[in-house]
Amino acid sequence: MRNAALAYAESQRDAFLTQLFDFLRIPSVSTQPAHRPDIERAARWLADHMRAIGLTRAEVLPTTGHPVVYGEWLEAGPQAETILIYGHYDVQPPDPLDQWLSPPFEPQVRDDNLYARGAADDKGQLFIHLKAVESYLKGAGRLPVNVKFILEGEEESGSGGLEAFVRAERDRLQATAILVSDSPMPSPQQPALLYALRGLTYMEVTVQGPDHDLHSGSYGGAVRNPAEALCGVLARLKDEEGHITIPGFYDRVRPLEAEEREALARLPFTEARFLQETGVPAPWGEAGYTVLEQITARPTLEINGLVSGYTGPGSKTIIPATAAAKVSMRLVPDQDPEEIARLFTEHVARLMPPQVRATIETRHTAWPVLIDRHAPAMEAAARALEAVFGAPPVYTREGGTIPIVATFQRQLGAPVVLMGFGLPDDNLHAPNEKFHLPNFYRGIAASIHFLAEMGALRTG
Ligand code: BES
Ligand code: ZN
Repeated sequence: MRNAALAYAESQRDAFLTQLFDFLRIPSVSTQPAHRPDIERAARWLADHMRAIGLTRAEVLPTTGHPVVYGEWLEAGPQAETILIYGHYDVQPPDPLDQWLSPPFEPQVRDDNLYARGAADDKGQLFIHLKAVESYLKGAGRLPVNVKFILEGEEESGSGGLEAFVRAERDRLQATAILVSDSPMPSPQQPALLYALRGLTYMEVTVQGPDHDLHSGSYGGAVRNPAEALCGVLARLKDEEGHITIPGFYDRVRPLEAEEREALARLPFTEARFLQETGVPAPWGEAGYTVLEQITARPTLEINGLVSGYTGPGSKTIIPATAAAKVSMRLVPDQDPEEIARLFTEHVARLMPPQVRATIETRHTAWPVLIDRHAPAMEAAARALEAVFGAPPVYTREGGTIPIVATFQRQLGAPVVLMGFGLPDDNLHAPNEKFHLPNFYRGIAASIHFLAEMGALRTG
């Protein structure tokens, strides 16, 4: 079965790429209401595609947010393993548009890379598993396991709709393992399995000063400027050593053990590469931790957006009426995202000067994730990766967030395998996002091997 699937995948390389192009052309930006029709188009496209590759069931299901695409093939029978495959078909906004070398929704191959918004995050990676399943169904007539797909349309906006969906549909989603490809590996030669993801608490702070913009000559000097008030508060959320100053913020943070720090230090990560990827003159972060620890295993607080006053061409002399900031905190085990929202709110309210009025809102939250590396599904994934890449995976943590993973762990009680095929320089959420094409094809082969390895767990 495995060889027939691998042979089919090999014979369909061009067709697979053409189909992925079609999928990438749909600008399914989840965070912008104007793209709602594109979100729906992407969902329908996926459900049609699922039917075309031979899944026995494929449907677009409504949620309180964007629709979920569900598909299944359960003909392996009740005794066989059931793999739930997750991915997200929504993408981040493509801005700033002028920095793209080719338009974000017109996929283009340059060298070995496919450039498009969503190429790696996550359309290209979720497509890997659709193609692996197709390879079995078309190449061998069947799969070695049962397969369920759950593809969502609002991961990039916090997965609110899917959270409720998973709670309500626990029976339908029952699985013996969950497979997610929405993360990077250190290099094209070095596959990885993730054992931790950070959680997230996303806040928005709006400060109201005067009830309309004021002439800064007539009133300047006697009115508290909301931009200044907000910046003053934001500037105090971290100290000069990079510690977050919110009281209680670190109370539940699990300290990094010496053994884990040594393992992280052995990973192929260099500061030179970090500087090259980011373009910053020097790293800066929490004192006492390495850069890799800072970006994967320690919590952080970042200003994601900041607006106030006149920002158009030329000048305008005003005291703005409002100022607003989007601030998010990446969390590590065992921080509780709701508790962090409360601590942030109390602290910001305390620091805010009384001459302005502040509104502090929680946009979305996600729990941090820790994974047992020794689960049989993890070992099956390690064998699959080694078969394709010729090297065993490294076990790494990532600083990004996939909100539904913690919910899967809690609600479905099945082990999650985080087997990503992106690369560190894929420009996620940035201009010129790309996917390394050899990883697309190797990913399909690795998925085929993984499904075979999972099938062999039961049949011996
Ligand atoms: N694919 C990323 C998550 C990721 C990034 C994992 C880097 C590992 C390394 C995902 O699509 C993403 O960006 N998620 C958002 C979630 C948030 C909006 C709740 C994130 O992490 O910002
Ligand atoms: Zn993603």
